Amino acid sequence: MSKGIRAFVSGKLSDKAAKMLSEFADVDMHEYDDPLTQEQIINNLRNKDVLVSVLGDKVDAEVMDICSHLKLVANVAVGFDNVHIEDATARGILVTNTPGVLDDATADLAFGLLLSCARRIVEADRFVREGMWKGWKRDLMLGHEISGKTLGIVGMGRIGQAVARRARGFGLRTIYVRSSEKDDKDEKIARELDAQRTTLDELLRRSDFISVNCPLNAKTRHLIGKKEFAMMKPNCIIVNTSRGAIIDTVALMDALETGKVAGAALDVFENEPYVPDKLMTMTNTVLTPHIGSASLETRRAMDELAVSAVIKAFSGELPPNAVNPNAWNRFKTRT
Ligand code: GLV
Repeated sequence: MSKGIRAFVSGKLSDKAAKMLSEFADVDMHEYDDPLTQEQIINNLRNKDVLVSVLGDKVDAEVMDICSHLKLVANVAVGFDNVHIEDATARGILVTNTPGVLDDATADLAFGLLLSCARRIVEADRFVREGMWKGWKRDLMLGHEISGKTLGIVGMGRIGQAVARRARGFGLRTIYVRSSEKDDKDEKIARELDAQRTTLDELLRRSDFISVNCPLNAKTRHLIGKKEFAMMKPNCIIVNTSRGAIIDTVALMDALETGKVAGAALDVFENEPYVPDKLMTMTNTVLTPHIGSASLETRRAMDELAVSAVIKAFSGELPPNAVNPNAWNRFKTRT
């Protein structure tokens, strides 16, 4: 029997979330990992009320205009730069994301990347596998000590704070920048995480390690470019688990090549899944395929949070994880 709400899910959901959704709506699921083209998205969404976006599908004005039944995009990610929020709001399309459930997983990966790059773990693993190891040598694979150094966190939201929490255990001194006005949150962060707010220039000059944890938007696109790399310490290692486009890749490759920075550990790239050859052939980079939130527990929690938002919204309750709550009134008139 038709349930009245028609949903398209662009990738495989975990079992419990899939069951929750199919009990509430008529569901079409693209159960494969390959990303959908714009044309496939449009074809699948034409008569749908809901998109549960698993693969960061691009939802722009064209998609919204053609798929005129669309009322809700539940993005299974905390970042939502793939959806044009203003266009969605103007059309009464509610957009939700999955904040709060992936902070630890992403911060763990940021730390894993930092350790891997600073202590050359991936490079050392390759060295062993390739049969290059001929015996213990005191200067073999010397890396950078972690403790006692300064970590600069760019973006002190939930994930940035989870990174700062880990930094305390590793004996790092933490400084950070965030975009909002100074407020009580800075005092709380200083008290609880022993992290001090500073300016971006100061952070670039002082940090031995930099972790990028801010969202991608018009203000943060290429926030770290040629000028910023020129200000960094030559021993600096930059870690990005947020969005590739926050760093200007060309400037990064130049900084790595000319020794303006010591290394880069990247989980995200400007034009995923494309990774420039230069980054792949450098030994001072560690590269992972956008797996920040990829733990079994976190994936399940993300799926369930996304599906709960769909159920709440169509049951008349504004989901707390709506990123454009100002679309709510229009949304209600459309449902
Ligand atoms: C993953 O990249 C996310 O934004 O959750």
